[in-house]
Amino acid sequence: MGKFVINGGNRLNGTVKISGAKNAAVALLPAVLLSDGVCRIENIPAISDTAMAVSILQSLGADVKYIDKHTVEIDPRRVNSFTVAKELSEKMRASSYFLGALLGRFCHARVAPPGGCDFGVRPIDQHIKGFQALGANVTIESGQVDAKAEHLTGAAVYLDKVSVGATINIMLAAVKARGLTVIDHAAREPHIVDLANFLNSMGAQIMGAGTDVIKIHGVEHLYGVSYSVIPDQIEAGTYMVAAAMTGGCVTIDNVIPKHLESISAKLCEIGAVVEEFDESVKITAPNTVKSGIVNTMPHPGFPTDMQPQITALLSVADGTSFVNENVWDNRFQYVDQLNLMGSDIQVDGKVAIIKGVRNLEGHEVKSTDLRAGAALVIAGLGAKGTTVVDNVKYIERGYENIVEKLTLLGADIKRID
Ligand code: EPU
Repeated sequence: MGKFVINGGNRLNGTVKISGAKNAAVALLPAVLLSDGVCRIENIPAISDTAMAVSILQSLGADVKYIDKHTVEIDPRRVNSFTVAKELSEKMRASSYFLGALLGRFCHARVAPPGGCDFGVRPIDQHIKGFQALGANVTIESGQVDAKAEHLTGAAVYLDKVSVGATINIMLAAVKARGLTVIDHAAREPHIVDLANFLNSMGAQIMGAGTDVIKIHGVEHLYGVSYSVIPDQIEAGTYMVAAAMTGGCVTIDNVIPKHLESISAKLCEIGAVVEEFDESVKITAPNTVKSGIVNTMPHPGFPTDMQPQITALLSVADGTSFVNENVWDNRFQYVDQLNLMGSDIQVDGKVAIIKGVRNLEGHEVKSTDLRAGAALVIAGLGAKGTTVVDNVKYIERGYENIVEKLTLLGADIKRID
């Protein structure tokens, strides 16, 4: 099991290039199943979650050709299976998108409930509600979700909870259904818009992605296209926080600044300076991090996927901060690890109360999930002494070349096995 060894205290300076968005790529890859031709997807992040999605496509019979590390050509025409093997689907959360995509293609899909990071119950009732509204019969047998329909018919679906996954899955199933589907109370994340743009470039008719009402007129055919994945908003935010933690000044390149607005605004509130350019932002750390209040919310609110990282930063703020987690039930499991490094954080239900300390001290810690792992790396970069972060397989699910990127910025970090 890999570990990162970090000697903290180096200021991060320079430019870091952000990779393609994990959460967009893991939706676009299954969407290729709906195409009648070859799709070429560029700017795919080289991380284990996208590799897993590609493996699932191959296991279903798709022809996959890597043009380079970040570009893949997928021919889905020979796919003849609607079942994703359990040992593959259990390894990633986004394997649930194969339900929507296979249902859309074959009117039949069988996928085991998804794996992914563990921060509380991760239900898929809203996905199922959407499939049922479109006419599918959904059963769960022998640990597999089976969704089957004679044909899919457009319908109105009101989501009881804003869900990224349910919005994406219903879009995938509805795009070739007969008639009009309306998803009300839909999620608005940039990766939802990216998926809609991808499908529309293939010939779909999706309107309203990025708002809370998405309308989908079903079409009979989707065609092969070339498409480039948007930059990763959360990877960008993670490097912004790392820069702030180390007193550095970093240009975050290859981003869409609009996607970073809630993160930039919060970092400015706590004393950083963020300058926006066309495809980059430059962050200059504050002399002293000010305390703050963070409320995680669906987009355009402050992303839950940045909650652990900002908590790590606020642990060295001047004063007491409050972080309210409004999306997941149990996303503070990493706090015990941060406290081993000298932070003073108490969790009360969905609120973390953070009394700022002067500095963190290096320690052996374990990442409990992807973003928690990123938070521990940030803490290690800012801490005095040596931090060893264990279980880095979680971090590598979502951050391409994190050691190389941080090293280029001046960090003292290496990976050991
Ligand atoms: N929910 C339900 N029923 C459902 C679906 C969701 O009650 O059928 C609840 C969840 O329990 C949660 C909330 O709705 O409380 C939001 O869940 P959502 O469905 O939006 O999450 P997800 O689609 O499973 C995606 C990202 C997560 C990110 C969340 C929220 C992907 C592959 N994953 O998960 O990203 O935290 O949206 O923005 O896109 C990460 O990248 O580290 C990560 C965990």
